[in-house]
Amino acid sequence: MESDLQTTAKDGHPIFAIEFIDQFREVIWEYYHRQGRIQPWRNHPDPYHIFVSEVMLQQTRVPRVIEKYPSFVERFPDFYTLAGSELSAILQEWQGLGYNRRARYLKLSAIKITEEYSGILPSDEAVLVTFPGIGRATAASVVAFAFNKPVIFIETNIRRVFIHFFFPCNVIVRDDEILPLVAKALDPKNPREWYYALMDYGTMLAKSGKNPNRRSRHYTRQSSFFGSDRQVRGEIIRFLLLNQPVPADVVIAHITTDRERAEKIIRGMERDGIITTVRGIMRIT
Ligand code: ADE
Repeated sequence: MESDLQTTAKDGHPIFAIEFIDQFREVIWEYYHRQGRIQPWRNHPDPYHIFVSEVMLQQTRVPRVIEKYPSFVERFPDFYTLAGSELSAILQEWQGLGYNRRARYLKLSAIKITEEYSGILPSDEAVLVTFPGIGRATAASVVAFAFNKPVIFIETNIRRVFIHFFFPCNVIVRDDEILPLVAKALDPKNPREWYYALMDYGTMLAKSGKNPNRRSRHYTRQSSFFGSDRQVRGEIIRFLLLNQPVPADVVIAHITTDRERAEKIIRGMERDGIITTVRGIMRIT
């Protein structure tokens, strides 16, 4: 597609005129100033609260996180409290967020931060990715939201916005085509709010039924929860929180699936360090 606002470079990459980037910025800011979402962690953009909320938001939708986050940070108000708490207490508060191994990663990260960084979260993306359970997108979003640093990154909502605006006709879009545009459009004076604005716009697009991410090379859908191993893992943790320590056979008998599958799931949870079975007795690690 060629127009006053877009031409194509020799290597086939689209080049967008600065006016188009300006128009894009205007649309995103205008939406944010009218409809920007209120989220409890936006009122506390300090490293601890942002770190916890971004780990929760990795795989759980915003409304569910909004429900669970306040009691979590009330019970574990800082890295020291989290580092010193039993995993079972953390899992208790984590109930309903899913993907339970993140609760253990949070605890392990809190231990690392208290033991190796005097309780102060590093503001460097390259250091944050060395923390348990922290990938590139989470590290970058923590750096943007907690420290207001102009990092360049893509996550699912941001990807959706850029594909929608800049690649309306492409069948497949790769992240390396999007990243230069993320860099060009970034507001270096206010990266925190700019990324909030992008994420809010991306969420609005998803709700409106448009999902440009289907055209992303990196698109994956979250698998269905019902009947999944995730659901069985959740059942096991709920049962252990109420009954532990308990014979493994009792847990297996309680789980509504075949024995072979239940044992396989339990072995996975043991490998993840969430539960341990000693002499046939199971408990949360
Ligand atoms: N809205 C949707 N995803 C988000 C995230 N990871 N951080 C902050 N706000 C969000």
